[in-house]
Amino acid sequence: MDIKTESNTGTEKRRPRSTEICLRARGVTKVFGLGRNKTVAVDNVDLDLYKGEVISIVGESGSGKTTFAKLLLGLINESEGEIQFLGKKRDIRSHSKRREYWKNIQAIFQDPFSSFNIFNKIDTVLLDCINMRGGRRLPRQQKIEMMTEACSFVNLKFEELTNKYPFELSGGQQQRLMIARIFLLKPQILVADEPTSMIDACSRATILDMLMQLRDEIGMTVIFITHDIGLAYYVSDSVYIMERGRFVESGSADDVILNPKEPYTKRLLNDVPKIYEEWDLSTV
Ligand SMILES: Nc1ncnc2c1ncn2[C@@H]1O[C@H](COP(=O)(O)OP(=O)(O)O)[C@@H](O)[C@H]1O
Ligand SMILES: [Mg+2]
Repeated sequence: MDIKTESNTGTEKRRPRSTEICLRARGVTKVFGLGRNKTVAVDNVDLDLYKGEVISIVGESGSGKTTFAKLLLGLINESEGEIQFLGKKRDIRSHSKRREYWKNIQAIFQDPFSSFNIFNKIDTVLLDCINMRGGRRLPRQQKIEMMTEACSFVNLKFEELTNKYPFELSGGQQQRLMIARIFLLKPQILVADEPTSMIDACSRATILDMLMQLRDEIGMTVIFITHDIGLAYYVSDSVYIMERGRFVESGSADDVILNPKEPYTKRLLNDVPKIYEEWDLSTV
């Protein structure tokens, strides 16, 4: 199948790359376990992430995508290598520095449920975002307006959500609530790790459009993680193919996907016709 004729949607969204690097990884490695049980989940990875770009990291299950995402987010420590944020070596050793760093980089994960504290009501989830952005002292009415706006951005009604818990929502609604959080937090960088793999095709397209709209509105830089190379083509400027903890091929989405060089990339592309049936965005 000729991916080019099927999907020019992706190409239209691509824009020139900024010259400013917001996040840089050099020789980043993560080893789990010891001796015989040793797994090199991320193996000597370099990355230059430019401000405002959308990149996809694509690879099969177990290739190290989530581990790399967690390293970038500072949720786990690297075994070797260095991560720089805005040109400086990242320092997240103390709790307060980590919190400061998380104002700049946020994530949405595959399973939205795991990302919420189950004891917190939706109001608290959203209020925390406002507080984190320094809005703790704002008048109550203004906070409600901000939460209402964030919910309406993702087609949720704040009035209907107050006093409810995230687990009372459907999967698609939970995923949208995650995006409402991002709307309030306005991080510079968003890591979206397989954010649409648990929801139906219709919600999937909506979620992606919301993310892309948010990217445009707040100038966010996005790291999109997926095993779905067709999806990567649809959303990203640059694509990084990950195999066994390494980037085996990278470049502009058009170069990597329309003109793949590595056998592994070609193999991932073999699944595309199937993916496109699932991903028929023209009908939603
Ligand atoms: N906490 C952990 N302890 C031990 N091994 C892990 C841990 N997390 C991930 N791994 C291993 O690291 C490798 C990469 O996993 P992961 O980053 O989750 O891949 P992906 O997200 O691409 O599916 C796998 O072999 C996985 O079993
Ligand atoms: Mg994963």
